Amino acid sequence: MKRVAIVGSQWGDEGKGKVVNYFSKNYEWIVRYSGGANAGHTIYIDGKKYVNHLLPSITPNGYSKGFLGAGMVIDLEQLINELKILEADFPGISSKIYIDYETFLVLPWHKEEDELRESMRKKPIGTTKKGIGPAYTDKVSREGIKLYNIFDEKLLKERLSEIYYLKNKIYSGKIKSTDKDVFEYLLKVKRDLDKLNVNFASAVKMGDVFRSTSVLFEGAQGVLLDLDFGTYPFVTSGSTMAHGVSSVGFSTFELDKVMGVLKAYTTRVGSGPFPTELFDETGGKIAKLGNEFGATTGRPRRVGWLDLPALRYAKIRSGLNEFVITKADVLDGFDEVKICIKYDVEGKIKEIPDSSYDFYKAKPIYETLKGWKSTNDVNFLKYMAFIEEFTGVKINYISYGPKTEEMCTKNNMIMRIKG
Ligand code: IMP
Repeated sequence: MKRVAIVGSQWGDEGKGKVVNYFSKNYEWIVRYSGGANAGHTIYIDGKKYVNHLLPSITPNGYSKGFLGAGMVIDLEQLINELKILEADFPGISSKIYIDYETFLVLPWHKEEDELRESMRKKPIGTTKKGIGPAYTDKVSREGIKLYNIFDEKLLKERLSEIYYLKNKIYSGKIKSTDKDVFEYLLKVKRDLDKLNVNFASAVKMGDVFRSTSVLFEGAQGVLLDLDFGTYPFVTSGSTMAHGVSSVGFSTFELDKVMGVLKAYTTRVGSGPFPTELFDETGGKIAKLGNEFGATTGRPRRVGWLDLPALRYAKIRSGLNEFVITKADVLDGFDEVKICIKYDVEGKIKEIPDSSYDFYKAKPIYETLKGWKSTNDVNFLKYMAFIEEFTGVKINYISYGPKTEEMCTKNNMIMRIKG
């Protein structure tokens, strides 16, 4: 397999960072193509935990290199912080990181706007306040700053002054960062980046390089948070699906497969519909056992049973053709587990939502399955077989703990269980 995309199949936080990190040693390039520092990808190297928000989940002591593609919105200060942490343990790692000149930057005023807009919304989205929505909004309304702008100080100054003029009017003077502040900020981050030896690159030139070797595309968030097809408006502002690889110049036809990472139950942070959400003791227990707190904001995650209609929707929307299941060990020891197999949408039974609107009206219909003592138990195999049958997608890998090496193929697990 030379070109694979790994995406979240639910509302994010499925454990993609760990899964990407597990596979990354077999790929020369790990490419992030969407989102920004709203993502939180946790990896463990030699027992030490690293939480990256922007950096692709490369194996720091391996041969892989990381590319930050044009579909992302990048907070350069955050990127520098992540690199400094890794540099302390893996000197020289910054020279393995490449950033596309076309990426849009998240600027200090975007974070202010994120806060302001959330505080003004009647129904807040529950954003990560990392400036993601406002940065993408500026991209679309043509008030964005691209990475290449920081290499032309004269033009940068002009652009910032025009943009600030507009922002100041739109927000009635409530934005504290001025164009001059942002200009100084960008000069400083550029100096810091130069010291770290990061590479500035172009996907146009990299196209042939990527096509001559192995590439792993690392998705951010999950399909149900996709701007176009997630539970709008409670979504993020980027493409969370495999289709986002187009921002790096790839077609999904060029992918050998799209792996969907699927948590054995469901979680979501922030507001928005969540048909299988649990409000009882069981939900609290799963949240505690699964340590369900956001890697980016530390907020408690909402928790619920596995939702197969939502997974089928994600499978179709993002062309998922293989699953990796994570965190099944969290459900070890439950006598029984529930699994949502259909929705009742205003009296109509649906195995798959017709549109993202159905998520708002869906009442879950459950089937109860026997629980498992450990993931080495035949009942866990039955749980996986059930998911496969209802989604039509094979589960090929199982992650059974937070460490990178705590992962195996399903065939290995079957052999272990059946002896
Ligand atoms: P934003 O991306 O910060 O604008 O937040 C929009 C919605 O997406 C909120 O509900 C966030 O909690 C959610 N979100 C953003 N990034 C992640 C993630 O990496 N994992 C899970 N939820 C996320």
